[in-house]
Amino acid sequence: MKIIFSTGKGGVGKSTLAAAAAWQLSQHHRVLITSLDPAHNLGDIFGVSLNGKRKAFSNNLHLDEVDLKKLSRDYLNREIGVLTDTYKYLQVLNLDNYFSVLQYSPGIEEYALLTSIEKTIQHEKDFDIVIFDTPPTGLTLRFLALPRITITWVDRLIQIRKRIIEKRHTIQKIRGNPETGKEESGIVLAYDESDDDVLKRLNQLKRNYDNLTSLLEGPDCSIFMVFNPDLLSLRESQRLVDGLGDLNLPLRLLFDNKVTSENTAMADTVEKTLRSGGLSSFPLMRISLLHEFQDAGSGAALYNINEDIASAILSTFNNDGR
Ligand SMILES: Nc1ncnc2c1ncn2[C@@H]1O[C@H](COP(=O)(O)OP(=O)(O)OP(=O)(O)O)[C@@H](O)[C@H]1O
Ligand SMILES: [Mg+2]
Repeated sequence: MKIIFSTGKGGVGKSTLAAAAAWQLSQHHRVLITSLDPAHNLGDIFGVSLNGKRKAFSNNLHLDEVDLKKLSRDYLNREIGVLTDTYKYLQVLNLDNYFSVLQYSPGIEEYALLTSIEKTIQHEKDFDIVIFDTPPTGLTLRFLALPRITITWVDRLIQIRKRIIEKRHTIQKIRGNPETGKEESGIVLAYDESDDDVLKRLNQLKRNYDNLTSLLEGPDCSIFMVFNPDLLSLRESQRLVDGLGDLNLPLRLLFDNKVTSENTAMADTVEKTLRSGGLSSFPLMRISLLHEFQDAGSGAALYNINEDIASAILSTFNNDGR
């Protein structure tokens, strides 16, 4: 399965080009397009009402929008379940009480989004291609950064946990009585790494995030960036290029969207500046501004553009995705 992310500044045409890519690719492939943006407009682009539900637009093209509120709630519920289960001997840790506060904790939405991406990649094996339409730059970079950040934390936590178990082991040896580890609940604490639920959970987290990182950084993932011929778009695109580079994520294609005969000079300038910033031989495609998209009475299909962006996207993969 190939994974594609559409990224860029707010309003540049990420959703439009993600939808156009999905439509064109679905002529020869089974495609799922998922909107990760809390402000969805995928349904509007395809002219169907999704309301957070998956819908088949055609045999080969399915549309989906994540419900970020529900996703965050489910994520938190699941994690609190795992925590209470793992730390059942610590009755003082009454996590249920913290639920209402934790849901506002920074990072929850990003983790929830990442979990949803992970689940989609794991379970949607029927599709040849999954396209993720992302929220504007800030949130996107934050959730794409999470696997690496988490691995750094989990590695450190694994070391600390191992030291705790080692110390318990030493105490057990000195006292010679496993009952010493018995808590009020009657649960005996683990003295060996292989028995420790916390360590098992940490190792499982590390495996998950290692897999996800390999996938996101690997040959089956392709990120395209959309920008417009204007200076604000250029500045934010430069930040996005730097951010993706820092995260070692595969930006593979640029779309200069909404180009007209009036703004070609600006399009040249923006493209040249981006190219001079380390993207010298980068594949880049211009997409013309379609006036019918901006005319309420035109009845235009808002996913239907003239350029062949499917071929451009497929050629960014090592093989052609077929
Ligand atoms: N090539 C194009 N020609 C004409 N209009 C376009 C083109 N691409 C995008 N648009 C229009 O620009 C507007 C913003 O597009 P879109 O919603 O795809 O951007 P976005 O980057 O996904 O925005 P957001 O950051 O809000 O999610 C829409 O009205 C869309 O129809
Ligand atoms: Mg959008």
